[in-house]
Amino acid sequence: MEKPKNSPSRAKKQAPESTEDLATVLSRTVVGQPAATRLIVPYIQMFQAGLAPEGRPVGVFLLLGPTGTGKTKTVEALAEILHGSEKNVLKVDCGEFQMEHEVAKLIGAPPGYLGHRETQPMLTQQKLTAVTSDKCNLSLVLFDEIEKAAPSMTRLLLGVLDKAQLRLGDNTTVNFEKSMVFLTSNLGSREMLREMNPEFGFQSAQHSERADLIGKLQSIGLVAVRKRFSPEFVNRIDCIITYQPLSQEALAAILEHQIADLQSHVNTRLGDRSFTLEIPPEARQFLLEKGTSAEYGARELNRTIHRFLTQPLATMVATNQVSAGAKVRVDVADPPEKLSIRALEPEVVPAAAHPTVLLVDDNRDLLHFLERLMGDAGWTLFTAESATEARRLALLHKPNAALLDYMLPDGNGVELGVEFLQAVPQMLVIVMTGTILPPEEEALCEEHNFPVLRKPFLASDVVNQIRGRLAAAGGGRG
Ligand SMILES: Nc1ncnc2c1ncn2[C@@H]1O[C@H](COP(=O)(O)OP(=O)(O)OP(=O)(O)O)[C@@H](O)[C@H]1O
Ligand SMILES: [Mg+2]
Repeated sequence: MEKPKNSPSRAKKQAPESTEDLATVLSRTVVGQPAATRLIVPYIQMFQAGLAPEGRPVGVFLLLGPTGTGKTKTVEALAEILHGSEKNVLKVDCGEFQMEHEVAKLIGAPPGYLGHRETQPMLTQQKLTAVTSDKCNLSLVLFDEIEKAAPSMTRLLLGVLDKAQLRLGDNTTVNFEKSMVFLTSNLGSREMLREMNPEFGFQSAQHSERADLIGKLQSIGLVAVRKRFSPEFVNRIDCIITYQPLSQEALAAILEHQIADLQSHVNTRLGDRSFTLEIPPEARQFLLEKGTSAEYGARELNRTIHRFLTQPLATMVATNQVSAGAKVRVDVADPPEKLSIRALEPEVVPAAAHPTVLLVDDNRDLLHFLERLMGDAGWTLFTAESATEARRLALLHKPNAALLDYMLPDGNGVELGVEFLQAVPQMLVIVMTGTILPPEEEALCEEHNFPVLRKPFLASDVVNQIRGRLAAAGGGRG
């Protein structure tokens, strides 16, 4: 039942996405369900190679297993990988087709019925095409909760699975040869849950016990399926995949995904008002413990994240408690019943308001003039008339900025600046010169992004240079 059938080509030849990639990406998104990846990917590969069999869908999969273990997620993840959006799935909720007469919604009413032109069938060729993309012409079709479907719907499905054809009310046919059909069902879930026996703890089960349990869940699923569906129906399914209860590691990985998704959601939705979440391991552990449930799988984790993190955050944003660029720190509250969420205001860089500046020039008049000017602005100043003295002061005070004359009695300002950067990498170095710099010095300035002030310059120029550059370096927050 697991082996793809080989037969002649029919799919449009596509730039084949490496299967390796597909499997890797899929198993990264759908965590802890290796069987799903291993069984589904070869069918896609076959389609992409143009080798999928004719006269039937590309693959028919029945996904079983407890709630919140990734059945629907698998189909959405495939849509995202193949088409670029998880919405590119034609989804039929079988719960809506429990009564015989409701099947008309699926295929449209036959002509002659009043209002048949107004009933838009759910499954048309157009709708199948609408969920494909430029990247890939494979339609993913999902029949959710198949066990709820009325018998007449199961009969219709039989034709789809068998011949890849569905006859609509108006007598036209829909072709499913370029479709992959997923059926999901909770058949057997209750028995599976009982088997998992949370008392003993699936989470802590040994490897061999776990393998044993997986086998048991599989046979529970099969028995339930055979009881509910006719042998013809079951025989037309390529793979029956039983999803496993999620282990602690899998849940931890899903939590990481959800947090990353939340952050990127904040970034895209809030744009320049966005903030950065800081969630230390203890807070993650808190969410994991609260969100672990054998009964509801990752659904419980998602609810927990929503309740303890997303909702309180939304309230803070809506009431303007988080400013743009802030860090939002999430800690376990005391007592540890919830999370404490605090917005830390963006740091003000004091350097930008009152920088420390080293002035180096052997022109004593200029030096004192600058010293007075900057001192009036409230800046802290150190002055040196030689490279040697400048070196000592730079190492001692690690100033925010250094204003260096190019020609010094014992060295040159450009090379001195490069030297300073090695000791204090974030230092702003500005070079002053009364002459044209030699090309190699010019190149050094460019390489290290040193502004060059040509003498004579306006006093306001130098003050503004330092202010502007330091503010920019502080992220404009100063
Ligand atoms: N294996 C998994 N890997 C990653 N995320 C998962 C996994 N299982 C569940 N989730 C998360 O839980 C949510 C619910 O999962 P999903 O809809 O796939 O459950 P399901 O198995 O289809 O359950 P149900 O039987 O109730 O339909 C997903 O949107 C996803 O966020
Ligand atoms: Mg589902």
